[in-house]
Amino acid sequence: MCKKHFFLIIIFFAFVLGFASCTYEQMPEKADCTVTNATYSLQVKPLLERYCTSCHAGNSISGGINLGTHQALSIVAKNGRLLGSIQHQSGYSPMPQGGSKLSACDIDLIKKWVEAGAKND
Ligand code: HEC
Repeated sequence: MCKKHFFLIIIFFAFVLGFASCTYEQMPEKADCTVTNATYSLQVKPLLERYCTSCHAGNSISGGINLGTHQALSIVAKNGRLLGSIQHQSGYSPMPQGGSKLSACDIDLIKKWVEAGAKND
């Protein structure tokens, strides 16, 4: 085998591996999008803990909005403020404050859970 071919083969494999790792990394996000019934414990709570509860639970209840317990969360879920804020609807403060908007998948998950009655499931 001449040197030129050898290099081409190396480049080819580098491409294949690069692609493989990209699609692999994107898989968890895609999986979230296909969820049909979101639950508080499996989807909503972990999401809020990741993006919101640093400002909205425990000792820092910003704006009087507590997202740290299901009982308190269900109030803002049912009065529309939760979805209004994460969907950046007019009339609501856009959340997470100072951060970028949640992904469409994450917003969809929370929406499904609210529409199903915001249960403690
Ligand atoms: C960096 C701190 C911070 C983070 C992170 C944050 N918030 Fe807030 N949030 C605030 C503050 C401060 C207020 C009160 C002032 C205001 O309304 O802008 C507020 C207000 C709210 C309100 C009331 C809005 C309204 O218009 O009635 C809701 C609902 C809310 N946050 C939900 C969330 C959710 C859901 C997340 C996560 C996706 C989140 N927040 C992340 C600081 C934060």
